Amino acid sequence: MCGIIARIGSDDAADTLLTGLENLEYRGYDSAGIAVQNGSGVKVHKTSGEVSDLKSKLNYLPTGNVGIGHTRWSTHGPPTEENAHPHTDSAGDVAVVHNGVIDNYAELRTELAEKGHVFRSDTDTEVIPHLINEYREELPTEAAVRKAVETLEGSYAIAAIVEDEDRVYAARKGSPLVLGLGTDDWFLASDVPAFLDYTDEVIYLEDGDVVVLEPDAYEITDLEGEPVHRETDTVDWDPEDAGKGEYAHYMKKEIHGQPTSLANTIEGRVEDGEVDLESLPAGSFTDVDEVQFVACGTSYHAALYGAQLLKASGIRTEVIRASEYDSASGPVDEGTLTIAVTQSGETADTLQAVRKAAERGARTLAVTNVVGSTIARESDDAMYIRAGPEVGVAATKTFSSQAVSLALVSQRLAADVPHADQVDDVEAMLESLTDLPEQVEEILETTDAERLAKQYIDSDAFFFIGNGLGHPVALEGALKFKEITYEHAEGFASGQLKHGPLALVTERTPVFAVCTGGDDGKTKTNAIEAQTRGASIVAVSPDDHPVVDAAEAHLSVPDTHPVWAGLLANVQLQLVSYYAADLLDRPIDKPRNLAKSVTVE
Ligand code: AGP
Repeated sequence: MCGIIARIGSDDAADTLLTGLENLEYRGYDSAGIAVQNGSGVKVHKTSGEVSDLKSKLNYLPTGNVGIGHTRWSTHGPPTEENAHPHTDSAGDVAVVHNGVIDNYAELRTELAEKGHVFRSDTDTEVIPHLINEYREELPTEAAVRKAVETLEGSYAIAAIVEDEDRVYAARKGSPLVLGLGTDDWFLASDVPAFLDYTDEVIYLEDGDVVVLEPDAYEITDLEGEPVHRETDTVDWDPEDAGKGEYAHYMKKEIHGQPTSLANTIEGRVEDGEVDLESLPAGSFTDVDEVQFVACGTSYHAALYGAQLLKASGIRTEVIRASEYDSASGPVDEGTLTIAVTQSGETADTLQAVRKAAERGARTLAVTNVVGSTIARESDDAMYIRAGPEVGVAATKTFSSQAVSLALVSQRLAADVPHADQVDDVEAMLESLTDLPEQVEEILETTDAERLAKQYIDSDAFFFIGNGLGHPVALEGALKFKEITYEHAEGFASGQLKHGPLALVTERTPVFAVCTGGDDGKTKTNAIEAQTRGASIVAVSPDDHPVVDAAEAHLSVPDTHPVWAGLLANVQLQLVSYYAADLLDRPIDKPRNLAKSVTVE
């Protein structure tokens, strides 16, 4: 995915565009560019690399009150300067930034080239300014933009500026686009943090919307040009939430933000030993027979966590990697509840899985962090995890908030689904949940993760094992580790180690044994089998757990209900990954080849 921004006002746009792009870099960071219009044509400045490279390359800030900007995660063509956005038509009169994928770009490119248009990049996006320019020969610009958009197949959020016009033209289909309503200026962006310093008043645009911004007016219409009304929302994120503050990296800030994010996730949702979900009141799920979770990456691990809790209440449950939905989904009917777990609410694989489930008759529920995101809007219901903005590409606080949210949803389901049973100690479980933020704080203050990271940093590979609720934690621990350290890390169900992976174990492969619930005896036994082959055991467990005596090192997990212990263990593993990546001097917030949310299948 990529990040786009547009801004129009009475003063120069470039500075605001660059700041906005920095706040959008989590969406892609392999090349960046801006274009401004100042009455003497459209000026484009772009580069491969990050926004900081673009800033260094600019000897001066270009003038012009109308501008667009882009930060890229490559899909069509390598991250070169030529492929960086904005793209223009042959004459450089129209400049366009785009997020999404144009499926029919090859045919359009051939047709336009035959008419004399000269292409300079490998991107699908470049056809858009050429199309607009082609149609401008016969139509006013707004009609030309509309016609160009109708010609495109695929997904897009686009913003365009045109020589000598004090206007921004924009449209969306399948990729997010938010309109920001400032006091003296208007913004369009892929996501709110791009302009949060200037306004918290937003309009989430919908598929088929076409927007024209002028310095003192904006208009939203449909593809036929008919005006459409969209509600204005006020975003409750603080601009401070969008910055790094005192921390060296967003990831560290976000790990340390978990006491607050978890408190927000829980607030008002647990009262007198009962779950109270505002958007899903008691009785919401009486028609549900079975549940399927669809998710990717870290969100998939959170879904595995939630699914185990649901299975304990006797509800038939499957967890499907969203990209495998076609082959992995069992039968679906109107008794199926499909829960999409996605922090961004934009992941293409997850979106497609939700759409397919809905087509087959399932009811859909989005569990997401982003209000107004595509999956939230397309699902029948949405539950927001309230983690606040997460900028680091490695998901941390959203995982813990997702897992807690899913635990609460599973209690609602257990209470509502006629054939389900409430777990015996639900009151004790919910009571101990209120201590979770404080216990995360305790870990942050006392963790030995930095020392352990130093001790094991020179290892050949890192293994993470766990059973029951410890299994998704082990998988997540390994994903985080490999994602930001670039070291070989794998997570396994502890009993599976001896069925193959044990062949990889040596004295240079520490095994992190997550013993926080489930059959921890099994985890201990399998860790000792690895230790017999020379590996060190790092116990991730309460202090009094028997695995500690067998282990070479220990990351302490405060005493809590077994349902929450894995989330505390996960915080310790997040910290180990963070410190290991820092020792290796990795670009922690922007690991190579990755992007915060992946809007292509
Ligand atoms: C994990 O650190 C990654 N950011 C990645 O696995 C992520 O969880 C996955 O791409 C799904 O994203 P989503 O939650 O926005 O759908």
